Amino acid sequence: MAFGAQRSPNLAFTGEIHAIYLLSRVQKRGLGRTLMHVAAHGLRDGGHRNASLWAMTENTSALDFYLHLGARPVGTTSFELDGVTVAETALAWDNLATLLSS
Ligand SMILES: CC(C)(COP(=O)(O)OP(=O)(O)OC[C@H]1O[C@@H](n2cnc3c(N)ncnc32)[C@H](O)[C@@H]1OP(=O)(O)O)[C@@H](O)C(=O)NCCC(=O)NCCS
Repeated sequence: MAFGAQRSPNLAFTGEIHAIYLLSRVQKRGLGRTLMHVAAHGLRDGGHRNASLWAMTENTSALDFYLHLGARPVGTTSFELDGVTVAETALAWDNLATLLSS
């Protein structure tokens, strides 16, 4: 898990959750939500009221997880990796209180 200041200049959210990954053997036990709440508390302590993150668009499981925690889609982008186009979707919480109450 990593979080901090927004890295995308075109997104109007001051905080960003940079990454969250759990080993498959510890998924679906509530740890993901707990880590997202840790990030939300950390971002608020750092002065952020809102936050976004990027997920690969094909990672529908992760997108559904973030939607379940109250995020909304706010943008898309894509980049080339070894000749393959990788699509990403940005999701965001306008108020981190929404994430903390999820
Ligand atoms: C995505 C990930 C962080 C979620 O963490 P997790 O520990 O499995 O999720 P939790 O057990 O905390 O789930 C919390 C809530 O979200 C729900 N949820 C989890 N995954 C979901 C999904 N794919 N679709 C819908 N809801 C989902 C759970 O049912 C639970 O809901 P409830 O308690 O309100 O009933 C974790 O599965 C993971 O690390 N996946 C692999 C790496 C990855 O894709 N990271 C994201 C990269 S952008």
